[in-house]
Amino acid sequence: MAKKMAVLSLALLLSGVPAYLIAAQDDHSHHHHHHPATGSEVSTENPLIDEMMKLDEVFHEIVSGVALGDGQRVHAALETMHGTMEKTHEGVDAGTVKLKKNAKRLKEFVKMDKDFHRNLEKLAHASHSNDHKKMVLLTKKVLDGCVSCHQTFRP
Ligand code: HEC
Repeated sequence: MAKKMAVLSLALLLSGVPAYLIAAQDDHSHHHHHHPATGSEVSTENPLIDEMMKLDEVFHEIVSGVALGDGQRVHAALETMHGTMEKTHEGVDAGTVKLKKNAKRLKEFVKMDKDFHRNLEKLAHASHSNDHKKMVLLTKKVLDGCVSCHQTFRP
């Protein structure tokens, strides 16, 4: 049995499949260097995806903070969001943000995002004054914001 396995892995080694995979990986890493020199720290080509990745992380923190009645934790999480919406809206203007669903309803998308961030702003204030009741209400509103925007614009 062990001998059979050894023969099999030797066969795989000689088959050229690993070489192909390595070549493909190489290609992939090269691709990342073709980045326009924007001077900003973008992790993907699409500021909307960057915003969503950040938002996802931050919202987990918010949920924990609100559940534990820890306004400081909520406030600290929200502070790291600064500037991400602006980058998304710049991307909308520059054409680097391309909606994959209902792409023609861009104005509606921008309005939804602004309303959403206005609620985040209110949540920041509520958490700053440790108003737990308001924090709970606004966190629910924010979640509604994620869901309704995804229903319309997430493929
Ligand atoms: C104003 C619109 C809008 C709001 C608000 C919004 N999203 Fe998104 N989100 C999108 C769109 C559009 C996509 C799909 C992007 C794509 O694939 O091009 C997306 C994608 C994502 C993704 C990427 C993973 C995937 O499977 O698509 C995550 C994670 C995510 N959103 C989390 C959140 C969370 C958490 C919230 C709320 C706290 C939120 N989003 C609020 C529009 C929004």
